[in-house]
Amino acid sequence: MQMQGRTILITGASRGIGAELAAQLVRKGATVIGTARRPFEAEGVSPIALDLAQPGAPRDLADRIARDYPACSGLIANAAIMMHTDLTQGTHDTEIATEIATNLTAPLQLATALLPQLGRNGPAFVNLVTSGLAIAPRAEAAVYCATKAGLRSFARSLRNQCHDAGLPVHISETIMTLVATTLSRDLPGRYPAQRAAADLIAGLERERDEIWIERTRLLRLVNRLSPTLAFRILRGPSVRAQLAPQGD
Ligand SMILES: NC(=O)c1ccc[n+]([C@@H]2O[C@H](COP(=O)([O-])OP(=O)(O)OC[C@H]3O[C@@H](n4cnc5c(N)ncnc54)[C@H](OP(=O)(O)O)[C@@H]3O)[C@@H](O)[C@H]2O)c1
Repeated sequence: MQMQGRTILITGASRGIGAELAAQLVRKGATVIGTARRPFEAEGVSPIALDLAQPGAPRDLADRIARDYPACSGLIANAAIMMHTDLTQGTHDTEIATEIATNLTAPLQLATALLPQLGRNGPAFVNLVTSGLAIAPRAEAAVYCATKAGLRSFARSLRNQCHDAGLPVHISETIMTLVATTLSRDLPGRYPAQRAAADLIAGLERERDEIWIERTRLLRLVNRLSPTLAFRILRGPSVRAQLAPQGD
């Protein structure tokens, strides 16, 4: 799958992995449209500011892409948020709804709304960015992990549906490792965003169904041998310990 000359939509392109993906794809000769909630500028990228968690926003974005970028033949659904919450304390209805809308509902709706256009422009691709935490969850990011596991499941089913329908749209998933961005805060041992983006693009070019980034390849192996061990490794410290204010 060649990136040069392709028109690609990347959600969450204002910083982190999405910004790196956009910059590298521009350098490869792609036309890149990037989205984020807040207005932003990036060299060579056409920016669109909108909150994908708002009802109807994914459909509006797909309509806008069909109107303004009819040649679009690639989507990287990368935007996500991660909340760290002790669900045993208080009520969390709004946070839960926002996290699910951003991380799960929006990529599902956007990918399906764009499918007809991508199909006409095939060979095309949709890449859904999940996480090692889709394989085994981390305790204090329960909702995030559930959304990524859901997105992983969706990627597999949508791939089968496109295949069965003969639609020339390759559906892939990127199982992202821990990367140095604002989302991962200051956890140690983070992979550089530049390398994560380069690995993802290489996986797209090779038309991999699943693009395992860095240490997630080892996680995949551990999970095959012992899902219990994978769960123990990733679940992290107790929620109370993790979320306790400094000095407690
Ligand atoms: N970093 C890691 O360690 C790690 C590990 C595993 C998986 N991942 C996955 O990799 C992807 C990229 O993560 P990242 O670390 O690069 O995150 P990041 O640095 O926090 O960037 C997130 C991007 O998404 C945008 N965004 C967030 N909510 C949005 C919304 N409702 N509508 C539109 N745009 C929105 C943000 O811009 P605004 O804030 O302006 O909206 C920003 O551009 C995510 O899917 C994440 O789950 C990351």
